[in-house]
Amino acid sequence: MESKNATVIGLQWGDEGKGKIVDALAGTSRYVVRYCGGANAGHTVTVGSERFALHLIPCGILHKDVMNVIANGVAFDPEVAVDEIKGLQDRGVHIGADNLSISSTAQVVMPWHKQQDLLSEQQLKDQKIGTTARGIGPCYSDKANRSTAVRVADLLDEKTLTQKIRFIATIKNRIFAALYEAEPMDIDAIVEQYTRLGRDLSPMVRNTGAMLRDAFDNAQRILFEGGQGSMLDVDHGTFPFVTSSSVSACGVPGGAGVPPKAVGHVVGILKAYTTRVGAGPFPTEQDNDTGEYIRRKGKEFGTTTGRPRRCGWLDTCVVKYTSDLSGVDELALMLLDVLSGLDEIKICKAYTYKGKTVKDFDPALMGQVECVYETLPGWSEDLTNCKRLEELPANARSYIARISELIDRPVGIVSVGPGRKQTIANQTQIEGLT
Ligand code: GDP
Ligand code: IMO
Ligand code: MG
Repeated sequence: MESKNATVIGLQWGDEGKGKIVDALAGTSRYVVRYCGGANAGHTVTVGSERFALHLIPCGILHKDVMNVIANGVAFDPEVAVDEIKGLQDRGVHIGADNLSISSTAQVVMPWHKQQDLLSEQQLKDQKIGTTARGIGPCYSDKANRSTAVRVADLLDEKTLTQKIRFIATIKNRIFAALYEAEPMDIDAIVEQYTRLGRDLSPMVRNTGAMLRDAFDNAQRILFEGGQGSMLDVDHGTFPFVTSSSVSACGVPGGAGVPPKAVGHVVGILKAYTTRVGAGPFPTEQDNDTGEYIRRKGKEFGTTTGRPRRCGWLDTCVVKYTSDLSGVDELALMLLDVLSGLDEIKICKAYTYKGKTVKDFDPALMGQVECVYETLPGWSEDLTNCKRLEELPANARSYIARISELIDRPVGIVSVGPGRKQTIANQTQIEGLT
């Protein structure tokens, strides 16, 4: 039997609108699973006049009868998690062991990871990556190093935790003093804080891999929620200006502990233009009035750090590459309403490198390519109340059709505003879009 599962991933450099689409699909899912990244993510869900910015908690949390899972591939920050849970509970959202599970094998972001992220970026000066300072890179580095890693299960055993923290923090204090002349961390305070955090979170800690494999065997619907965007993938993105985990659909099996065939229907999320936060190549960037127009109209400021996002035209070379990488079945085209009011809209349809057309997309060449643009006529109408494709202006429909053609995939969803109702389904193959 064909799996009913779905995977929602970002096809650009993040903030494509994954949160809105995960929320739309969560109502018909039994599990919503974060499999990569950590509190570097900022996923927005708008319900009526309320806006929720979720960082670690999956976007199924606003629906009843959904088990939200923070899987093994996540860099889990217990301090952020406890704050986020409390913030949501204060707004009337139910969160408990019956709707949130945290993998016992997820890596824990410790205070030294956040400190190292900051210190390392300061030291890199104009070479810096522009991270979110959430300790993501240092946490995954320690995962690969093994002996200096802490996992969620360690938080639950006071004796092991105390030993680990003393051992690791002593090493980190020496490194920070030598490299950055930093003051030593207060090890006793860390032991106390993390023992408490472990106690608070312990009812939700589970063997989430076994839980999800069981769900898959029993044909219960699982929705995998990507963090970041595929161009930030540690293997396939614009390295070194990437994040430190496998964020494409290729990261789902390893990051959630499920067989590859559990990935299901892959929905690729893209903006009608492109944004990027942090440093690194961005061929279609418009550091000019057009970029400013998009930033202002699209409210393009980071959900996690508040930084202004860099803005530019849609790059179909990027989106074709990331769609092929993840085997995207259909596209969700977001924030189309933001482009209203532009006389002309450009789409990057090819690159040249040293004067020759690039045939095979190579993320390593991104800083050196020239864009070949096609110009389409814009539209002036406000799209935010359109409910059906036919209600969109002809030029907006032509833009969608051209995107579909260049990326060689159907555009199953068009989004014209942050709200739940501002979503146009266009012969989508996604089951259960609500
Ligand atoms: P994510 O990280 O991929 O979940 O995306 P973010 O939440 O960081 O950024 C997307 C932003 O666009 C959020 O503020 C959303 O509320 C908003 N948004 C989503 N879809 C639309 C849309 O179709 N139109 C507009 N104007 N805003 C949207
Ligand atoms: P969502 O899930 C946009 C970017 C940072 C930086 C790079 C590395 O909301 O789409 P990191 O802190 O991960 O080491 O930073 O990755 N970045 C994101 N940009 N949206 C995100 O998440 C991001 N998560 C990380 O800005 O350039
Ligand atoms: Mg975001």
